[in-house]
Amino acid sequence: MKNNRRDFLKTACKNVVFASFGISLIEACSTEDMESMDPVLNNNNNGSSAKEPLVLNLNDGDLNGLKTVGGWLNYTSKNILLLRINKEEVRVFDNKCPHQGNRDRWSYDGSSFECGHHNNTYSNSCSGGLTCYTATLEGDTLTITI
Ligand code: FES
Repeated sequence: MKNNRRDFLKTACKNVVFASFGISLIEACSTEDMESMDPVLNNNNNGSSAKEPLVLNLNDGDLNGLKTVGGWLNYTSKNILLLRINKEEVRVFDNKCPHQGNRDRWSYDGSSFECGHHNNTYSNSCSGGLTCYTATLEGDTLTITI
């Protein structure tokens, strides 16, 4: 049933979808329009809307290691690598390896992340090859724009 709905939304134009809800519009059809309208189609890999920030509480058990400078975490359910830089900053990266896209075998040596698949290394700076996200730390609340 869910696949039928998804298939319908992917292929139907906006006018047809609105008409099915009793709303009429005069507009051209496009696949891009449909994807931006539907939260199911608009989700990114971490399951949240691309425009909503991800808010994490560093007091949560899994994130406790980030309270210490140098602490890091591969948060696989959100597809991000987190690194505590200093008291005021947690740096956040996409955990997708630039080499072949693997996300699961990261290690950190204090200055670079290493992907265990082919041992490529990436600096912990935002210009080091990994995609860096904007992150704001207020107290123990980390807000990430993905
Ligand atoms: S996939 Fe990461 S180094 Fe090859």
